Amino acid sequence: MKGVGESLKNEIAVLFDLDGVIVDTAKHHYLAWKQLADELGFDFTVEDNERLKGVSRMDSLNILLEIGNISVSESEKISLASKKNQRYVESISNMDERDILPGVKAFLYELKSNGIPFALGSASKNAPMILKKIGLYDDFSAIVDGNAINKAKPDPEVFILGAKKLNVEPENCVVFEDAQSGIEAGKRAGMKVVGVGDPKVLAGADLYIDTMEDMTLSRIKGLFF
Ligand code: BG6
Ligand code: MG
Repeated sequence: MKGVGESLKNEIAVLFDLDGVIVDTAKHHYLAWKQLADELGFDFTVEDNERLKGVSRMDSLNILLEIGNISVSESEKISLASKKNQRYVESISNMDERDILPGVKAFLYELKSNGIPFALGSASKNAPMILKKIGLYDDFSAIVDGNAINKAKPDPEVFILGAKKLNVEPENCVVFEDAQSGIEAGKRAGMKVVGVGDPKVLAGADLYIDTMEDMTLSRIKGLFF
């Protein structure tokens, strides 16, 4: 007869956000948006930046412009978003496996060696390029990124699609997120959510960790009991 741990094997799956969970890109996003805000003549703080985390590029720009109380034409928006992205891509051009956040590699290894499938669920259109740079592209069973989805987090689409690709029921999935919009997306998908960061900043997760170093497979399984 199978023990509890064994019966869970292959029935649960993990979905990871990318920016701020797998790799330390969140600060590069912030600095690129901040430079744009500086040029547009307003201040953009670290606190303001929380609203942009997990949010698609165009939605982020709209929030930024709202913070600066600035209105521009649609074509100007496209050019501002593209300027931000060029700077962001430039600022991460030297990224490599040293930028993987602490504990991530060991945890992915633990999942892999226990047969637990995992996928990426990111709003970023740059996700495949980043995963290749840090050498993790081939480790994910599925990748759902900003190119594959129509509705940005907090809509659950990105995670529902990830679960589908892994062939695992949403209620058996665990999401790792550092963004409020992502925690909400995971909960709306009917999944367990681990918040990576400060519970005072991030609300609604089932469990909080400071870094992936605090994570083990047995803590994941504990979320289901
Ligand atoms: C999310 C980031 O992962 O991706 C956001 O948290 C970012 O800050 C979004 O705006 C879209 O990223 P990109 O790389 O497509 O501009
Ligand atoms: Mg993130």
